[in-house]
Amino acid sequence: MSDQSDITTYDHDVLVIGAGGAGLRAAIEAANAGASVGLVCKSLLGKAHTVMAEGGMAAAMGNVDDRDSWKVHFADTMRGGQYMNNPRMAELHAQEAPDRVKELEYYGAVFDRTADGKILQRNFGGHRYPRLAHVGDRTGLELIRTLQDHAVHQKNLSVYMETTIVRLFKDGDRIAGALAYTREKGKYILYRAKAVVIATGGCGKAFEITSNSWEYTGDGYALAYDAGAELIDMEFIQFHPTGMVWPPSVKGILVTEGVRGEGGILINEAGKRFMFDDIPDNYKNQTAKSEEEGWRYVCGDKNACRPPELLTRDHVARCINREVKAGRGSPHGGVYLDIAWIAQLEQRIKGLDPKWKYKGSAAEHIKKKLPSMYHQFKELGGLDITTQQMEVGPTTHYCMGGVHVDGNSQMSCVPGLFAAGEAAGGLHGANRLGGNSLSDLLVFGKRAGEFAASYAKEQAKAPWLDEAQVKDAITWADHYITKPKGSENPYTVQQKLQKMMQANVGIVRLENEMQTALAGVQDLKKQAELVAGGSGKAYNPGWHTCLDLGPLLICAEAITRCAIERKESRGGQFRDDFPDKSKEWAKSNLVVRKGADGNMVVEKRATKPLNDDLKQIIEDQAK
Ligand code: FUM
Repeated sequence: MSDQSDITTYDHDVLVIGAGGAGLRAAIEAANAGASVGLVCKSLLGKAHTVMAEGGMAAAMGNVDDRDSWKVHFADTMRGGQYMNNPRMAELHAQEAPDRVKELEYYGAVFDRTADGKILQRNFGGHRYPRLAHVGDRTGLELIRTLQDHAVHQKNLSVYMETTIVRLFKDGDRIAGALAYTREKGKYILYRAKAVVIATGGCGKAFEITSNSWEYTGDGYALAYDAGAELIDMEFIQFHPTGMVWPPSVKGILVTEGVRGEGGILINEAGKRFMFDDIPDNYKNQTAKSEEEGWRYVCGDKNACRPPELLTRDHVARCINREVKAGRGSPHGGVYLDIAWIAQLEQRIKGLDPKWKYKGSAAEHIKKKLPSMYHQFKELGGLDITTQQMEVGPTTHYCMGGVHVDGNSQMSCVPGLFAAGEAAGGLHGANRLGGNSLSDLLVFGKRAGEFAASYAKEQAKAPWLDEAQVKDAITWADHYITKPKGSENPYTVQQKLQKMMQANVGIVRLENEMQTALAGVQDLKKQAELVAGGSGKAYNPGWHTCLDLGPLLICAEAITRCAIERKESRGGQFRDDFPDKSKEWAKSNLVVRKGADGNMVVEKRATKPLNDDLKQIIEDQAK
């Protein structure tokens, strides 16, 4: 089907796969270091899940509360991740995030400001102090826009849009390049590269209800896994507590945590603020016990306890799930999120409390701080969030796990293969704090780019691309087209997988349901062998969906196997049959790799130990 004339070859020192925040930041850094960089995006440049981190980027700048510091941020991240985190990554992240945010500002990013002109920071779940640098509820978009503008001006950086990588190649042990197809023409591109950075984001499309768009089929995890890298913590999936639940066409679209950060409260059908019913012990001394304490927080009182809506995402999502299952949910299977109440609150306490912080009316404030949410609900849901309650429910948002990397360099166990952002595992442990993803991709995108460039520089010889490996990959990709007719439809297989994962490996998990999912994955793998992509490779989404099935199935298998293996509840893994944390599992990560026989192997590994300094920080902050 394909001959050599169909294939274009490019040489780069560093090939970056994925052009969200992590990929862009890595590409900029590698190009700055003098490497020739190829930046590959599955979609158009600028369209990435990064924009779904709407509410801000976490960095302990202390602009709003000077008690904040990298140490508090480090301790919050470890506590949020329930100590499954790679401590070195959590340390570097907390230390370097403020500089990365200032650098972004230097590149031209616009931020909301404090009265004295500093970058404004807002509250988010699990962060002890207001820590999220933001611009309204469009922070991810601003970050992407800024990095994109910066990247396209780099001399030695080439961007390949609408290009999907389907296979990585190795020269012996080390990485050698990759094969891609172009979405529009269906042509193959062969990249020869000394180093590869995987920055492909997550695998939300393995689930039915997700904030992720069509690109997020876990390509990076699967490419790395097939190339011999390890994946870590794959059982920990983040269900963001607030996605839209109505109308059906927009189910899963994110409703930023920024709504709760600005004072939004969660209530059930009976009008009860149910989050007060369940406050975890390790957050008790920082969480408001009464509505009155919550008001003080909305009024900007520095010493007020934080509202329970700003507990960690895993906890809030489970509380919402509990209300819905108990029949106390909203008509469309969610609960109510109310930011309009700050307008009513304004009537009640303006004048009584001199610290009332909004200059104009609360409704104007909502529109200014949450313009996208205002617009999103107005256009898609037909309601006005300044006067009406939103209906929201959990949506699959983020994969805490990912490619197992060295905490400093971001290199995997495959020489020359790096990963950053959501594609890499380690920083977030069992649960990510909101806002830590944007700072993650800036900090570790930069590091991955820097170390990939220096690795490439050290390679005296360009890697050798084995023609047989390339031919094999092309034959495999072509076979979905050359097949006369498939007995299965790729979209049907994808949908079956998504429904099965949502139902059996979702927010609340049970052994027998997960075993059903695991058997289902094996069955779907057989069905995936029978799919065909129709005729012709030029702009053929059917063919693309055939190619996406392999990565999705690898991710689904890894998530399910690890979730079955971990016999406890922690962060993004809640098991009804093991509802508590276990001491034994508190010290173990799960790592997945491809065995010699091609089957998936799951290994229990001791968590990385904390050094004494970091241990001390955690102890001090717990006081
Ligand atoms: O809710 C949000 O704005 C999402 C932020 C994040 O995932 O970091």
